[in-house]
Amino acid sequence: MRGSITHVLGARPNFVKAAPVIRALAASGADQRVIHTGQHYDERMSDVFFVQLGLPRPDVNLGVGSGSHARQTAEVMVGLEREFTDNPPAMVVLYGDVNSTVAASLAGAKLGVPLAHVEAGLRSFDNTMPEEINRRVTDQLCDLLFVTSPEGIGHLAREGRPADAIHLVGNPMIDTLLANLDKFDAERARAEYGLDGPYVVATLHRPANVDSPSIAAELVKALHGVAAELDVIFPLHPRGRATLTAAGLLDSPRVKVVEPLGYIEFMSLVRGAAAIVTDSGGVQEETTLLRVPCLTLRPNTERPITITSGSNQLVTRDGLATAVLAAVADGPYAGELPPLWDGHAGPRIARVITAWLQS
Ligand code: UD1
Ligand code: UDP
Repeated sequence: MRGSITHVLGARPNFVKAAPVIRALAASGADQRVIHTGQHYDERMSDVFFVQLGLPRPDVNLGVGSGSHARQTAEVMVGLEREFTDNPPAMVVLYGDVNSTVAASLAGAKLGVPLAHVEAGLRSFDNTMPEEINRRVTDQLCDLLFVTSPEGIGHLAREGRPADAIHLVGNPMIDTLLANLDKFDAERARAEYGLDGPYVVATLHRPANVDSPSIAAELVKALHGVAAELDVIFPLHPRGRATLTAAGLLDSPRVKVVEPLGYIEFMSLVRGAAAIVTDSGGVQEETTLLRVPCLTLRPNTERPITITSGSNQLVTRDGLATAVLAAVADGPYAGELPPLWDGHAGPRIARVITAWLQS
């Protein structure tokens, strides 16, 4: 094998998904490089995950930072073209659906570098989400497509992707969750934030929810409606900080806003919560595994399996407080969990990559 298996990571969800893949490849003796694009750069959006999840220090950080979609995507492409030319990879491994992911697929494909996409085939069928565009383009360009949920196979087949490229492997985000489960200390989290009774964790960052001041104002009203009944703890993603604060998020004494949390602290809170209010992709999956009711403030989801095999439901701002109370009363989903969400996705992915590179 010539060159390293090169992982491109850029944003918070990438770190959680990559950790088990990198660990499994390391266990098989693979030569690996990690490139951080710098899309997320705050200590609490990036470094804390490398420390807590045991990720190797990136070999390179492109330092692209924030910007418009075109600028951020273009800067990642320019940086990666240089990196892939200077250190030709045996294969590039991409994660999820962020701008760094699509940029890496474009830069790599044009240099003829083999590409693998972890979390392929998810579709919301909503092109107003930048992630949907990123997913479709990335999946067209990758040689190996690692699918977390069975419906992804059909989506990829309908888009003309060959069957031998598609591998249902389970969910590496769930590998990370199961590997760290004994560190999630709900009682300690409760004590840390002074939470006595049942509480709700909120995490929101989608442009459709947090970018517009008028929608942010409606969202804050809805969250205050929840806080009339239950304590709400809200680790606030930097994207919504200005609009949600300006809309009066802090005005309710039962809404506790904190900085984005490290993975262990965040999942500890989630584990002990009565319900979660979110628009996060990963949190819909994590709550499925932890069997915590999840209320997703979106009109659609690319992860419908969290509804059919979990207690996720799509809700509107207007119906939020009622839906949260009903979900808390109903309690968690008690049925079968999605297939292969068993903590072994990383080793499955490593085996397929290794076999592909040897073929
Ligand atoms: C990105 C992804 C989104 C993913 C989310 C996970 C895209 C198009 N979006 O959204 O799919 O769900 O990450 O969290 O790739 N900022 C900071 N510090 C940081 C990073 C960002 O303050 O470390 C602020 C900046 O003001 C920036 C804004 O957050 O403009 C948005 O960051 P960006 O990476 O463009 O998109 P996210 O909303 O984080
Ligand atoms: N997360 C965290 N701290 C937080 C919020 C989230 O550790 O304060 C973790 C959590 O595991 C989540 C992951 O980061 O699944 C990715 O989160 P995010 O919502 O940013 O991205 P998305 O999954 O929506 O793309």
